[in-house]
Amino acid sequence: MDQIVIRGGNPLNGSITISGAKNSALTLLPCALLTDEPLTLRNLPRLADIDGFGHLLNMLGCSTTIEGSRPEDFGRVMTARATNVTSTMAPYDIVRKMRASILVLGPLLARMGEATVSLPGGCAIGNRPIDLHLKALEALGAELEMASGYVRAHGPGGRLPGGRFHFPVVSVGATENAIMAAVRAKGTCVLSNAAREPEIVDLCNCLVAMGAHIDGIGSETLTIEGVDRLHGATYRVMPDRIEAGSYACAVMATGGSIDLIGARADEMTATIDALVEAGASVEATKNSIKVSHAGRPRGITLSTAPYPGFATDMQAQFMAMLALADGTSMLTETIFENRYMHVPELARMGADITVKGRSAVVRGVDGLVGAPVMATDLRASMSLIIAGLAAQGETQVSRVYHLDRGYERLEEKLAAVGADIERISAG
Ligand code: EPZ
Repeated sequence: MDQIVIRGGNPLNGSITISGAKNSALTLLPCALLTDEPLTLRNLPRLADIDGFGHLLNMLGCSTTIEGSRPEDFGRVMTARATNVTSTMAPYDIVRKMRASILVLGPLLARMGEATVSLPGGCAIGNRPIDLHLKALEALGAELEMASGYVRAHGPGGRLPGGRFHFPVVSVGATENAIMAAVRAKGTCVLSNAAREPEIVDLCNCLVAMGAHIDGIGSETLTIEGVDRLHGATYRVMPDRIEAGSYACAVMATGGSIDLIGARADEMTATIDALVEAGASVEATKNSIKVSHAGRPRGITLSTAPYPGFATDMQAQFMAMLALADGTSMLTETIFENRYMHVPELARMGADITVKGRSAVVRGVDGLVGAPVMATDLRASMSLIIAGLAAQGETQVSRVYHLDRGYERLEEKLAAVGADIERISAG
């Protein structure tokens, strides 16, 4: 297994191009199943999960071809075409490794009138149930049966009749599955208390480009008038707001000034507000955000929440930065039940963090010390990278396959702005 080795203490200066958003790409790819025409996605990040999803699409009969990048894109171009869907099954060995595979449920139901998808099981940050996905699809007329760890869904007579569903808890994935099932329903679907993340907006905009009829995009109530068929489209994946926020936390921890090229400030207001409160200087243009900082961050209080609140996917990265603050911070994780796996690893580097239930008290220290640490999940691994960039001495981060799921060419991007960082391949 590869390791990333960092010799910390260098300030970060220069510019980083932000890749296409992983969490948007993973819901745009299954849209290819909704039509027999080609869906071309631009600015796709080069990430393990994207390749994994392409493999799943191939198993379902959808062809995928990767082209080079366009000059204006950092990411790749992929054309996916499901001329004929030859399977409606997403097997356990795929779904357990990549939870986002569950997002083929809605599109397969919409296109084929049936789907058999493995229950994903839990992961490091929580048990991650899919009950809301299933309740939403049932409300739209799907008939579900569970057997041997699989859910089998089918629409009476093929297409879903349509209906209304109010999400009791905001769920990004359940909203995405419901939208993709609804766009080809026989009738109209109304989803209330739907997730409003920018990735949901990206999904809706792509579906509209494919001929879907969706009202209320960006709001918590979506009204979707089902259509008989959707056509192909070419769509550019939005920039990754979590990647951008992660590098902003890195420069806050090390000092310096980084221009995040491609980042959209209007999709990151809660993150930017928190950075400014912690002492950052932030200059936003239409398509970039410049984050500068000198000295230690200030301690702040943060609580994660569904968008437009402070993103749970930013919690671990802020914690690493705030471990160096001149003051105490309080972070509360309201979305997942076990998203503090980075705390013991940060403590090994000298961080002073106390977890009490859903909250963590972070007492800033004036320096961290490099150490061998282990990544446990995607965002936890980025918090260890951030700590290593600021720490005195050498940090070896192991199990970086977690990192490779969400950060494209991380060492290259960080080395280009002054970090002393390298990947040691384990062969
Ligand atoms: C998406 O996960 C993201 N993943 C996550 O990013 C992100 O943390 C999360 O949304 C919240 O923003 C992708 O988009 C691929 P949820 P998702 O359904 O859809 C509970 C990363 O680091 N819930 O909004 O799985 C759930 O347990 C990843 O990039 C149910 O109870 O998240 C959680 O407590 C990690 N029943 C809460 O809702 C359900 O049926 C929010 O989960 C579904 C979810």
